[in-house]
This record gives sequence, C-alpha cells and structure tokens, in this order.
Amino acid sequence: MVLLSWVLSYLIGSISFSYLIAKKVAGIDIRSHGSGNAGATNTLRVLGKGPGIAVLLLDAVKGIAAMGLTHLMTGDPAAYAVAGLFVIAGHNWPIFFGFRGGKGIATTLGVVLGFSPLAFLIAAVMAVVVIAITRFVSLGSLVIVTVIPFTLYLLDKPISFIWASLAIAIFAYIRHYNNIRNLLSGNERKLGEKSNRKL
Ligand code: G3P
Repeated sequence: MVLLSWVLSYLIGSISFSYLIAKKVAGIDIRSHGSGNAGATNTLRVLGKGPGIAVLLLDAVKGIAAMGLTHLMTGDPAAYAVAGLFVIAGHNWPIFFGFRGGKGIATTLGVVLGFSPLAFLIAAVMAVVVIAITRFVSLGSLVIVTVIPFTLYLLDKPISFIWASLAIAIFAYIRHYNNIRNLLSGNERKLGEKSNRKL
C-alpha cells in the first residue's frame, strides 16, 4: 500500500496543468514560451491571470490529493512525507510530458498544507510579502521552501516532515538555478514582465 501510494502520488504530480491549460486555451506548448517553465507563474506571464490562477490552484490540489490519498491508504506520517516528494517529483519531471515539467512550488504548498496548515499559512504570507515588495515570484518561491523546514521544526511536527521539507527545498533550489543566476545578475523577470530585462 505504501509503495502504491507513492507511485500514485508521482502519477498525480505528473499531470501538467500548465501544459494542458495552455494547449486548451491558446494551442501552445507553455514550455516554448516565457521562461519555458510549465508552472503557474509562466502561465500567468504568457496567458494572463485566469489561466495562471487556475494552474496555481490545480497544481496545489495535486499536493493535497497526494497527501490525502497516502493518508487514507497508509495512515503513516512518514509515508505521506515521502509521498510529498513523489508528487513534487512528478510535477517537476512528469512521466506524461517527456519529463519536462515545472519547479514544484504550487504543489509544495499543497503538500505543506497537508503537513501543517499553520506552516502553510506562515510560508504563504511571507512569500506574498516578499513578492509584493520585490515583484520577484522566484524569490518568493525560494522563501517558501526555505522557511518551511524551520516552521515545521518550531511547530514540533514529525521529523519525517522536516526531512521531507529539506529535500523539497533542495529540489526547489536546483529547479530555480536559472532564476537564482538571473536574480544575482539583475536579469530576473519581475511579476508582470514578459521577458528578461537584459537578454
Ligand atoms: O514557481 C516558479 C517560479 O518561482 C519561477 O517561475 O517562470 O519565473 O521561472 P519562472
């Protein structure tokens, strides 16, 4: 049951809503536009608020669904900690879409909601503040994954959640390699900008 819940979590994560919505709404492959990322931020950038918000919510629901499913199938917190990694891995490297997916942040939010609604709230509020001030969604994303392990630790959550959140942070830093490079060189896209300021 545990292994099956992890496989199902990976498959749930592999449903690339940004790809599907961009194909349906505009007939394009989202991975060939904007930043090339199959995620909510790039969908917002390329197709506007409606599709962007839809992708954000649906990608988060994938995380919640994997947590709920693993909870029902195993009842073991350590198993849903690992399921969190699988659903995010599915989102980042989707089996249905040539292993070219997103950066996992919306799905991470869904997973963390399953770990601890309070940790979710703290991370989400901090990210909103950072994005509102800097207009860099990527910086907000990195803040989310950085604060979650500390918040879970301070809230005395199971050690498996803390280890999983550290692994999730590593995933996110790797996936944001180009964003970090652009942030450091002053070339990162701001919220609402279509392309990099200096190409
Ligand atoms: O969650 C993705 C976001 O942090 C960055 O997306 O498209 O600007 O690379 P993007």
